[in-house]
Amino acid sequence: MTYITTPIFYVNAQPHLGHAYSTLVADVYCRFKRLNGDDVRFQTGTDEHGDKIVQAADDAGVSPKQYVDQISGMFREAWPLLAIKPDNFIRTTDKNHIDTVQGILQKVYDQDDIYFSQYTGLYCKGCERFLTEKELVDGKCPDHLTVPDKISEENYFFRMSKYQDWLIDHIKTNPDFISPERYKNEVLSFLKEPLEDLCISRPTSRLTWGVPLPFDKNFVTYVWFDALINYLTGIGYPDGVDFNRYWQTSEHIIAKDILKPHAIYWPTMLKSIGIAPYRKLHVHGYWNVEDTKMSKSIGNVVRPADLVDKYGVDAVRYFLLREMSFGLDSSFSAKALVARQNSDLANDLGNLFSRSLTMVGKFGHAKVPVPTDLTAEDQELAEAATAMVTDYAVHMNNFAFNKALQIIWAVISRANKYIVSNAPWELAKDPALDGRLQTVLYTLLESLRLIGLALEPIMPATSAKIREALGVKIAPALDGQSQWGLLEPGTEISMIAALFPRLDSGKKKKKKNSAATSAKTKAKKEKPTEDDALISFDDFLKLDLRIGEIIAAEKIKKSDRLLKLTIKAPEERTVVAGIAEHYEPEDVIGRQVIIVANLKPVKLMGVQSQGMVLAAKDNGKLVLSAVSAPVAAGSKVS
Ligand code: MSP
Repeated sequence: MTYITTPIFYVNAQPHLGHAYSTLVADVYCRFKRLNGDDVRFQTGTDEHGDKIVQAADDAGVSPKQYVDQISGMFREAWPLLAIKPDNFIRTTDKNHIDTVQGILQKVYDQDDIYFSQYTGLYCKGCERFLTEKELVDGKCPDHLTVPDKISEENYFFRMSKYQDWLIDHIKTNPDFISPERYKNEVLSFLKEPLEDLCISRPTSRLTWGVPLPFDKNFVTYVWFDALINYLTGIGYPDGVDFNRYWQTSEHIIAKDILKPHAIYWPTMLKSIGIAPYRKLHVHGYWNVEDTKMSKSIGNVVRPADLVDKYGVDAVRYFLLREMSFGLDSSFSAKALVARQNSDLANDLGNLFSRSLTMVGKFGHAKVPVPTDLTAEDQELAEAATAMVTDYAVHMNNFAFNKALQIIWAVISRANKYIVSNAPWELAKDPALDGRLQTVLYTLLESLRLIGLALEPIMPATSAKIREALGVKIAPALDGQSQWGLLEPGTEISMIAALFPRLDSGKKKKKKNSAATSAKTKAKKEKPTEDDALISFDDFLKLDLRIGEIIAAEKIKKSDRLLKLTIKAPEERTVVAGIAEHYEPEDVIGRQVIIVANLKPVKLMGVQSQGMVLAAKDNGKLVLSAVSAPVAAGSKVS
């Protein structure tokens, strides 16, 4: 039995390659376990509270609720495009999750593991946590390269330090608890220093978008204390049957960025709640893009849906698992993906598949042939193919997906050489060699069957195509299907199209009419080119730019950034603008500004905004747009 989870992703950004990799690994591991006959539950979801989300919603000009609903939906929709099938998608804004968090907080508070105290610390908004001086590099957060804010306030604290010795002992006595080894060592080395207690609240004066503390309504729960509990909520803690069934088999998949919350906060929280620690933590490295950190500002964010649209699901799944060594960083490039698609998929696997089937069609009456005596060479291929399944399984269990694939590809390459050395087309010329010919063809088909079986977790569609071509009707399973010689002679084979097209490097695959080809995904490119930055004149004409005269302005309560403006253009309308940190209301009244008049209305902090005011950003400072001489309000700008 296994309960597999991914991190729940923040909804301040749309799904990208990094999120996709963790979720893909979870799906592959889940499929592999199921192939072994294991009872598996797989959960992913979204983390929707905290500062970051409020900020992102604010920037997008919508309410936090509207914002989280929209982005969470994008995550939910992204996974099926990659053939990823979670059993449960959890959201931290779900009522049952909020109830669970509050129940746990009350329990931990009642047993005196939470106390109230004054705290001064260095807070990194990006990490959503206080950093210690030691963690800073040149005074900055090493992950976000920002100087943390010094914050002093009264808060609630979880007695994490109380569990430090227990945690060290647990990690040492359970060698597989955190893997790969390097991350276990990192955690143990961190635990050499005294652990501080964990600040688990935020005053509502600073943040309201969170789970209220059940014992003090003036505070909401710190986002990490809330988020980690998703792993329990998702299986119905405290009394759901699935909790008792699955919890002790839980395995979390994360990247190195969130090691500390998972390896330190979470086990100590579980200990305090009185729940056994999770079974394993699997930590992977980071994807860069062409050796550069993936970031919105650089414009190199890779979207999984775009990749699928260009290269197809299985090629993307194959590439990500083949290219990254679990635990280490890796670099993505479209060029490398195309190269792998052409050599590993179209050439090696694709050719083995199409040559074998074509030859069975031509020389074997399109039926699984009857093998006769096996030569040493046949035996060797048969043994290599069966050993492949066993060895591959060891690597799959250890998250060494690249090694598992290398083992499969060694057999593919061997089978391709076997075709050349046995030259079935030559055997076909002499009727006296028909027995030999049929044995060679059988050996090829049986090797393909085992290759297809092993590939199921990683390339499910390709594996299904191989099964279909070979006339295998039963659902794939390692137990009972891993031995040699199971293809029934006489079974009709089906000729199906090539598994993978060859791609010209840099060129797009011919568009298929697939679900992946949505208008949304078409609009996004993997890496912007100069052309992508240009819009057509027709696009420009869609904007209704007008001169608006600001006739009234006021601050919006509870927002430091927003001003509510009444603008004449020429009819009066309300526009909410994020300029309050740069202009006082009285400074803007009477000004003429350029507005986008045909923007869809949105509600911002409860105020309906009908348009947008244009402003220039200079080194973080906003300067309102203007015209060089007064014009009639509502004049069109073109
Ligand atoms: N919400 C928290 C996690 C809470 S889990 C209880 C969070 N969210 S996140 O959206 O920032 O996701 C972080 C995770 O996304 C990483 O741990 C990893 O799984 C994935 N990745 C994000 N960027 C990545 C790369 N560039 N490369 C690989 N994976 C990365 O932290």
